[in-house]
Amino acid sequence: MVEVHFLGHATTLITGGKTTILIDPFLSGNPLAAASPDEVSADLIVVTHAHGDHWGDTVPIAKRSGALVVSTFEIASRASQEGANSWAMNIGGRYDFDGGWLKFYPAWHSSSFPDGSYGGMPMGVVIELEGKKIYHAGDTALFSDMALIGEAGIDLALLPIGDTFTMGPEDALKALELIKPKKVVPIHYNTFPPIRQDGDAFVARASALGFDGVALKPGESVQI
Ligand code: NI
Ligand code: MN
Repeated sequence: MVEVHFLGHATTLITGGKTTILIDPFLSGNPLAAASPDEVSADLIVVTHAHGDHWGDTVPIAKRSGALVVSTFEIASRASQEGANSWAMNIGGRYDFDGGWLKFYPAWHSSSFPDGSYGGMPMGVVIELEGKKIYHAGDTALFSDMALIGEAGIDLALLPIGDTFTMGPEDALKALELIKPKKVVPIHYNTFPPIRQDGDAFVARASALGFDGVALKPGESVQI
């Protein structure tokens, strides 16, 4: 059994398998954060892109917990320069770990570090852990190749619904039709005024289309 903990914004902690995975750790400076950077540890930290609300606390958590930062060449290089262990990849690449694997897919977005330097291509990630497949879309617009990602058989999709910087609810519903996950959890909304959305309303609309979903509050988790 795998447990997916929503820590606020796009920050997700996946536990229960042999490997604990933290995605996009943005805790300090996140008004919805359900934990402080001192409280979270992982074996792997996956960073979808370099924006501050995803790169966030990657280096301090990696250095304290010994986590390996797995991301683009550009983000992994920066993590290593700042003293963390890292593994450099790019879109299309797969990384095997104890109990599963992960694979990076495109995301339609941008990716610069808070200082303006280039972060490589923005990405989404599919993680298979203990036989369960989780798709964290990162920050992205709707794109039709999500149907290819869905062919893998996704147990849980974490999709942005905030609008303004990513898909809004309308397009996230179209994404569901392409991905056809067993369950959906909306992310990347309500953290800041420009991305205010109603997560429960999105889940109700998803349900009307036949998709099971839950709008997790920061700190809540779902088992798959
Ligand atoms: Ni972003
Ligand atoms: Mn973002």
